[in-house]
Amino acid sequence: MATQLPGWKDKVLFTPGPLTTSRAVKQAMLRDLGSRDFEFIEAVRDIRQRLVELGGVSAEEYTAILMQGSGTFAIESVLSSTLPPDGKLLTIVNGAYGRRIVEIASVLKIDMAVLTYPEDSVPDLQEIEACLTADRAVTHVAVVHCETTTGIINPIAEIGALAKRFGRHYFVDAMSSFGAVPLNLAECGIDYLVSSANKCIEGVPGFGFVLAWRPALLGTEGYARSVSLNLLAQWVGLERDGQFRFTPPTHALLAFHQALLELEIEGGVEGRAARYQANHETLLAGMRTLGFECYLSPEQRGYIITSFRYPTHPNFIFETFYQHLNRRGYVIYPGKVSSVDCFRIGHIGRVFESDIMDLLAAIRETLAEMEISLSPTPTENLS
Ligand SMILES: Cc1ncc(COP(=O)(O)O)c(C=O)c1O
Repeated sequence: MATQLPGWKDKVLFTPGPLTTSRAVKQAMLRDLGSRDFEFIEAVRDIRQRLVELGGVSAEEYTAILMQGSGTFAIESVLSSTLPPDGKLLTIVNGAYGRRIVEIASVLKIDMAVLTYPEDSVPDLQEIEACLTADRAVTHVAVVHCETTTGIINPIAEIGALAKRFGRHYFVDAMSSFGAVPLNLAECGIDYLVSSANKCIEGVPGFGFVLAWRPALLGTEGYARSVSLNLLAQWVGLERDGQFRFTPPTHALLAFHQALLELEIEGGVEGRAARYQANHETLLAGMRTLGFECYLSPEQRGYIITSFRYPTHPNFIFETFYQHLNRRGYVIYPGKVSSVDCFRIGHIGRVFESDIMDLLAAIRETLAEMEISLSPTPTENLS
């Protein structure tokens, strides 16, 4: 049986998702709605409309398609449904999620070009331009917005401008940023954007979603390489009668609807961005005082998740550190950087500055317990 803390309070998740959600979001799932019921269909309609609005665009230009499964399923849906048989994908990679796009495309046997950058660097726009100039076969360009591997934010508007200049379709994996980093899909030239329910909109896992530029989507008839992940067919079904083709995650969708209402109350994307930014700044200042160092330089860092280098102290063992914090009710996240030992702390989900202060106090106690004393990190290494 899962252990519960006294008072039935769950541990606080400082992870990139699933995240800590509000009580009302969890309570929204205490209902059994039929998937063909008008009340459920109305919730789905409202969710789709709100998602388009969050992208800063109109429903005449863009449409939202909900796809069962985790975020990766929605990515796979776009890649398997929108490239023509003779299409070629240029993927820009600076982390594990960029590499995942490459993996999916290669399983799908999609012709590909890949530009790879170090995990602590943003892609080089001149190189992307040179690649698009040289390789006329490229039909689609793909990049991750917030590369959750490190927390780096990639320049999606600039890459989008290049893709448009060369007349290429543009796909953005905005899994861990959408809803908390202000963005206008049309201004960024995005044809397809993917995110999922359990990230910055603060719902629970169960589905991903695609925001698609209608003219691009409508031109993909016959391209799908999968039945269940067929993006156009899923859209046709949702448009026809508001229903999913196959069993939808009804409870997760009700939770997500509630999460969208809470996002609106918080002040929309800007309001959420302000809270996450405050969480991030409080965390960084506290971690600096405790002697931790960020993996990314200040100009590369986003406010979604932060990678911290392992301290060099001989007593630091990440698993022990993790377990101590876990016992205190705080869940942090292992690192994903390939070449450097790091751990990650997310600032997203239903967490506030007071939670960050509690986490910092728990980290201080944990360090004392592990007999680790560190000198505060010099200010220039952290913002
Ligand atoms: C940028 C990015 N892309 C893709 C994924 C994969 O999402 P999922 O684990 O929901 O399949 C994640 C998950 O954290 C992510 O952060």
